[in-house]
Amino acid sequence: MSLALAVIGGTGVYRLAALQNVETHELDTPYGAPSGPIRVGDLGGQRVAFLARHGEGHTVPPHRINYRANVFALHQLGARRVVGINAVGGITERMGPRVLAVPDQLIDYTHGRLSSFCDVEGAKVEHVDFTEPYSRALRTALLRAAHDAGVEVVDGGVYGCTQGPRLETIAEIARLRRDGCDLVGMTGMPEAALARELGLDYASLNLVANWAAGCGDQAEITMDEVFGNLEAVSAQVPKVLAALLRDIC
Ligand code: HPA
Repeated sequence: MSLALAVIGGTGVYRLAALQNVETHELDTPYGAPSGPIRVGDLGGQRVAFLARHGEGHTVPPHRINYRANVFALHQLGARRVVGINAVGGITERMGPRVLAVPDQLIDYTHGRLSSFCDVEGAKVEHVDFTEPYSRALRTALLRAAHDAGVEVVDGGVYGCTQGPRLETIAEIARLRRDGCDLVGMTGMPEAALARELGLDYASLNLVANWAAGCGDQAEITMDEVFGNLEAVSAQVPKVLAALLRDIC
């Protein structure tokens, strides 16, 4: 199947309402089952696949997501480009709630996740280059698409991936800030590395849901705040994706 794009939706993005003529694929992979069905449909005259990373009912927590199955299944369906949509907390000044950002670097703080396709008996070990963890071409296309769609997006930033599912302490976020992180989320890794292992073009669109712990003036982070901001900012996502499909095809 020829797919122009695959999209992995994160917290707050469980479907692409604009997809037409949708086919549903319930796939199995050598790594197990993906988080849920993959919906393939038409968007802007192109075939696009969509997968909800946490499941369509948000039932899979970040550390239990089968990232290998998700990425492999999209590859199996014919995807060559993947945009991951990730909810994040903002750490540095320009990353306030409701901002969209396209990070250009990441630091992985996760542990215990199955993070490589080499991690199976008999697989040939490969050390993929990860100097630039996101596809430069797809990042550029996403930024151009946002511009064309009139959607403001921050170009660049360092994404720190924490283990979750709990949010971080003030001290943990202070450490991430010292490390140079601008954004913090729980799902960007190992997804980006797995996409690289399969030779996919992968970029991430971050939706800032809240100031990370200790960064705003809030005493605590509430789910009302997180989901309220995500609902508002995720309304921009279909516009960016529609423009992206016009640009890349
Ligand atoms: N930390 C980690 N992940 C997140 C956050 C956060 O503050 N907000 C949304 N996803």
